[in-house]
Amino acid sequence: MNAKTGCRFSGRKVTNTIAVMRTAKTYAVIGGTSGMGLGLAQRLVERGDRVLIGGRNSERLEAAARQLGPLASIRSVDIEDRASLAGFFAGEEDLAGLFTPGTTYRTASFRDADAQTAESPFRAKFWGQYWAVHTALPHFAKNAAIVLMSGAASVRPIGNPAYSACNAAIEGLARALAVELKPLRVNCLSPGPIDSNLWRNRDASIREPVFESWRTIALTGEVGTVEDAADAALFLLDNGNMNGSTLYSDGGYTLR
Ligand SMILES: NC(=O)c1ccc[n+]([C@@H]2O[C@H](COP(=O)([O-])OP(=O)(O)OC[C@H]3O[C@@H](n4cnc5c(N)ncnc54)[C@H](OP(=O)(O)O)[C@@H]3O)[C@@H](O)[C@H]2O)c1
Repeated sequence: MNAKTGCRFSGRKVTNTIAVMRTAKTYAVIGGTSGMGLGLAQRLVERGDRVLIGGRNSERLEAAARQLGPLASIRSVDIEDRASLAGFFAGEEDLAGLFTPGTTYRTASFRDADAQTAESPFRAKFWGQYWAVHTALPHFAKNAAIVLMSGAASVRPIGNPAYSACNAAIEGLARALAVELKPLRVNCLSPGPIDSNLWRNRDASIREPVFESWRTIALTGEVGTVEDAADAALFLLDNGNMNGSTLYSDGGYTLR
C-alpha cells in the first residue's frame, strides 16, 4: 500500500478498468434435450449466450428448458423431417452457431442388417444433418460456426459397417461444406464412447460389458463424459482457426 496515494499498486500507473460487455449470441442445438447437445447448451447459457434447443419429445424439451433457464428456448423438431426443420429455424436471425447431435438410428452387422436397418444411419444421421445445415443457411450470421456430429467408428470400426461409413461420410461432409460455405466454418465432433443417455437408456446388461471393453481400449482407461464432449464442441464453435476439421474426443480410443 502506498501511504501517500492510498493505492495498493504502489509505483504503477493505475488506470480505470472498463468492463467490456460481450454481446450475447444465439446458438441452435438439434438434440439439445439430452447428452452432448444438452451439455453444450448448458455451457452456452452459463456464459450468457442464448440457445434454441430442439428435440422430438415435448416433456424432454420442457425439462431441458427448466434446467437451462431463461436464456433457453425450445422448439420441437425431427431432424429427419425437412418441414419440421423449416419450422425449427423459422424466424431465427443471425444464429452464431449450430450443433446437430440429435438423431436416432439402428445398427446391425453387415450380414444381419435388413435394408431398413442398414440404411438407417445414413437416413437419420447423415441426411438429417445435411438438410439441417441446408435449412439453417439463411438464418446464420455471416461468420457462424457449424459443428456436425460423427463418431470415432469412422476410423475405428467395431462392426456395424453402415454406421461406421456414415460417420466417415459426415466427416467428409464437414470438409466439403467448409470449402463451399466459407466464411461460415464447418467442423465435426467425433467422440469415442461417451456416457450419455444414448447408453444410459440401454439395459445395464448391454451397457456395462461394452463400457468395460472400451475402458480397456481407450488410452485414458475411461469412457468419456458428456462434459468432455460438450467442451470439445464449444471449442469448435469458438475457435476461429478451426475449419473443415474433425476433432476426436475419445481418450485415444482410435489409436488402438
Ligand atoms: N454416446 C456415445 O457414446 C456416442 C459416441 C459417438 C457418437 N455419438 C453420436 O452422438 C449423437 C447422440 O448424442 P448423445 O450420445 O448425447 O445422445 P442422447 O443423450 O441420447 O441425446 C440425443 C438427443 O437427440 C434428440 N434426438 C433423437 N432423435 C432425434 C431426431 N430424429 N430429431 C431431433 N432430435 C432427435 C434426443 O431427443 P428426442 O429423443 O426427444 O428427440 C436427445 O435430445 C449421435 O449422433 C451418436 O451417433 C455418440
